Amino acid sequence: TRIYISRDSGALALGAEAVVKRFEKEAKERGLDLEIVRNGSRGMYWLEPLVEVETDEGRVGYGPVRASKVDDLIEAGMLEGKPHKKCIGVVEEYPWFKNQTRLTFARVGTTDPRSLDDYKAHGGYAGLKKALEVGPDRIIEEVLASGLRGRGGAGFPTGIKWRTVADTPPQQKYIVCNADEGDSGTFADRMIMEGDPFVLIEGMTIAGIAVGATYGYIYLRSEYPHSSVALRAAIDAAREAGLLGDNVAGSGFAFDMEVRDGAGAYVCGEETSLLDSLEGKRGEVRAKPPLPAHIGLFGQPTIINNVLSLATVPIIMDKGGKYYHDFGMGRSRGTMPIQLAGNIKHGGLYETAFGITLGELVDDIGGGTYSGRPVRAVQVGGPLGAYFPRELFDTPFDYEAFAARDGLIGHAGVVVFDDTVDMAQQAHFAMEFCAIESCGKCTPCRIGSARGMEVIDKIVANEDRAANLEILEDLCNTMKLGSLCALGGFAPYPVMSALTHFPEDFGAEKKRLE
Ligand code: NAI
Ligand code: SF4
Repeated sequence: TRIYISRDSGALALGAEAVVKRFEKEAKERGLDLEIVRNGSRGMYWLEPLVEVETDEGRVGYGPVRASKVDDLIEAGMLEGKPHKKCIGVVEEYPWFKNQTRLTFARVGTTDPRSLDDYKAHGGYAGLKKALEVGPDRIIEEVLASGLRGRGGAGFPTGIKWRTVADTPPQQKYIVCNADEGDSGTFADRMIMEGDPFVLIEGMTIAGIAVGATYGYIYLRSEYPHSSVALRAAIDAAREAGLLGDNVAGSGFAFDMEVRDGAGAYVCGEETSLLDSLEGKRGEVRAKPPLPAHIGLFGQPTIINNVLSLATVPIIMDKGGKYYHDFGMGRSRGTMPIQLAGNIKHGGLYETAFGITLGELVDDIGGGTYSGRPVRAVQVGGPLGAYFPRELFDTPFDYEAFAARDGLIGHAGVVVFDDTVDMAQQAHFAMEFCAIESCGKCTPCRIGSARGMEVIDKIVANEDRAANLEILEDLCNTMKLGSLCALGGFAPYPVMSALTHFPEDFGAEKKRLE
């Protein structure tokens, strides 16, 4: 019998390792012929540790499984796929999973992330094969046609970025993967790196061939030790198989790569700060222009893309730009791996086409709060994203629709709060976060964030209210327009949205701020 238990750090945190040990012990004692495959997570974290049993009908899931209950489950016939109160049936037929459109996450949770053969057996390296057939120019055409936009948060068209680097004169060029996933409530990059690392390697290789870059770096968040192990093992396996090195898959193209551990600062996720950190310097934001596409790592033309952007390229190459473009709405094409987190009943990874509304995500898919209390606010796009109240739950997941309501999608982290949240405290936290994480290079962010905390405290204490509200608004505008990077520039979003939509928490009557 073959069973699957995830090696994903979310599952490990919930006790997956103890469950594996228990199965091993039971198999030995009972003389069972049991093969345990360590897959990535399906992203249904409320069911982890999820144990999947291979049957003729498909993989039948049981979860959450406690180590102490393994014995009972075996007795009840789980290894034959028999019904049980913990059984969710065939995992791929389970509505929460089945209703998704998994393109970037096609293999996560299905395959063994340590096995290159398993990756290939599930469509892996088909994208690179196509890329090598059509050559650099057509690769960029396909990425442009797909409408893929940067999944790190800014949503800049990936194909245009690639074209800019491709058009710079031949010289040493680099591919840098931004894996410094730092937004609150986000874990999609981590899930890819732990659950399907080869897809990122394949995406970076295709990027290298497209723009003439021969070397790549993955700048990995220092808090992701399991991703580090998974990536390094996968890079070694790809190199061993001739898919990295001087002659990628016998094509004559050279491309190799390595993993670098991040420095542990939020601001090192900002692309120019990341480049400084990668060069061994203190992570400090550089002024743009010049863009990294022109003068990037070690002063050379560099593509910096988020994990998800690069991991989506193989399927675009395999199925064609048009296939990907057919999903989504408006200028937001394709699918987005959305991360449901915070006080939510069904938290996890939900990949779907752009256009789904915030209400559908939070109420229908997320099932409301974990606490069972009413949802009061949702923060989308990390610690510097706007807070949306229930009245804005009809907003479709789309870059422009969120921007039109003074919000942002960012890296698609959705953090839910129930009615016990104090929104003035949340606004204060945004300024505090900015003050702590500021690289200190520019005044609006370095000084503004500290002053911002003080002004919010005065407003809450009802001290010279009208004047301080005016100061806060003025300060937010200065930070928004005068900061060098998005850290200082976006701190006003949570602050102003909290004040606009939840004025009663700031000691005011419920009325909209003009
Ligand atoms: P940006 O708008 O300055 O740039 C977006 C990207 O496009 C950059 O890579 C830039 O170099 C490139 N670019 C712009 N014009 C170009 C051109 N003409 N040719 C080629 N490339 C061009 O945004 P920024 O500051 O890089 O990112 C801000 C975003 O980061 C925010 O929206 C926020 O959501 C997100 N963020 C994500 C985090 C995460 O954990 N993933 C953490 C913190 C922030
Ligand atoms: Fe540094 Fe803040 Fe200025 Fe960004 S906005 S450059 S983090 S001081």
